[in-house]
Amino acid sequence: MRVGLLTSGGDCPGLNAVIRAAVLHGIKTHDMEMVGIRDGWAGLIDKNVEELPRTRVRGLAKQGGTIIGTSRTHPYDADGGGSENMLRNLRELGLDAVIAIGGEGTLAGADRLAQDGLPVVGVPKTIDNDLQGTDYTFGFDTAVQIATDAMDRLRTTGESHHRCMVAEVMGRHVGWIALHSGMAAGAHAILIPEVRTPMEQVAEWVSQVHEKGRSPLVVVAEGFIPEGHDDPLSEAGVEASGRPRLGGIGEWVTREIEQMTGIETRNTVLGHIQRGGAPTATDRVLSTRFGMGAVDLVAERRWGQMVAANGTEIISIPMRAALRGLKSVPQARYDEAKVLFGR
Ligand code: F6P
Repeated sequence: MRVGLLTSGGDCPGLNAVIRAAVLHGIKTHDMEMVGIRDGWAGLIDKNVEELPRTRVRGLAKQGGTIIGTSRTHPYDADGGGSENMLRNLRELGLDAVIAIGGEGTLAGADRLAQDGLPVVGVPKTIDNDLQGTDYTFGFDTAVQIATDAMDRLRTTGESHHRCMVAEVMGRHVGWIALHSGMAAGAHAILIPEVRTPMEQVAEWVSQVHEKGRSPLVVVAEGFIPEGHDDPLSEAGVEASGRPRLGGIGEWVTREIEQMTGIETRNTVLGHIQRGGAPTATDRVLSTRFGMGAVDLVAERRWGQMVAANGTEIISIPMRAALRGLKSVPQARYDEAKVLFGR
C-alpha cells in the first residue's frame, strides 16, 4: 500500500513524532510506501508530495513543527474541489490511503471525505486539548509545560517589584492550557472562556494576595469573554478563513486590574512560543502511539476512524465522535482550582 500523510491546521509539538512512528511502523510492519503530502490539504489539491523513506524521519521524535508543512486549507474550500478532485488526485499520485493529522477542522474535512468514499483515517491534534472522544491530544502537555515555566519566571520578577503579573495563554474556545498551567504555577486567578469571572472578583483576589506581600499571578486564556461582552477580544482582525485572530485580552485584563486595585501590573502574551520547540516526553510517547495506531487503521482499511487516547489505551473511534462539540472545562474543575485563588 502507498500511504499519504498530511498535517493540517495550526502546528503542534509532536507532529513530527507522529510522522516518524507512522513511517517506521508502515515500512517495517506492513511493507507500506510512505508519502508526505505537503502543507495539509493544499498538497493534495496541488499534488505536491514527497517520498518519506526511513532516513527522512531519523531523529524526528524530538523535533518541533512538521517536516511536511501545514496550512489551514480545507478540502471543500472553493479551490479544493471537494471529494471528486481529491479522489482524482489520489489516483494520479498512486495513493491508496491518507492519514490526516489535525484538529477539529481537519477531522471534519477528513470525515466528510471518508463519507464520500475516500480512504481516509485521522489522528487528533491540538494544543488546546478541546477535542471530544480522546482524553488528551499531543502538544497539550508541551504547551502546559512551556506556559508553566514562563509563569514560574514571571513570578520571580513579579515578587522583586511587588507587581501583579498577567500571563495570556492560548485557548481559543476552552481553558485547558490556562487551567493546567495556572494550577501548576500557583496562579491567584485563572480566567477561561467557559466561565464569566467578574473583574471585581479578580481585583479582590489580586488585592488580597498583594496585601499579604505577595506578587499576584493572573492567567487568562485568549478566548476569555469578560462580563458585558458577547465575544472574545480580537483586535488583530480576522484570518483569511474569516476566523477572528485572538489575542489582546491580557492587556485588557492588565488595565482593568490596575484601574480597580491601583497595583502596578504587567502583561505577557506567550503566544506561539507555546506551540514551538521540542515536545515533552509525554507528548512524544502519545504521538508515537497515535502514529502507529493510525497505520494499523489503514492496514485494516477502517476508513472514517481515528485513533484516540482512552486512559492508557490507544483506541479507535469514528472521526464523527470527535466532532460532537468541543471538550470544555467542566465547572467542577474550575471550582476545584478556584479554592486556591486569592489569599
Ligand atoms: O487551535 C490551536 C491554536 O493554537 C489556538 O489556541 C489559537 O487561537 C490558534 O491556534 C492560533 O492560530 P494561528 O497559528 O493561525 O495564529
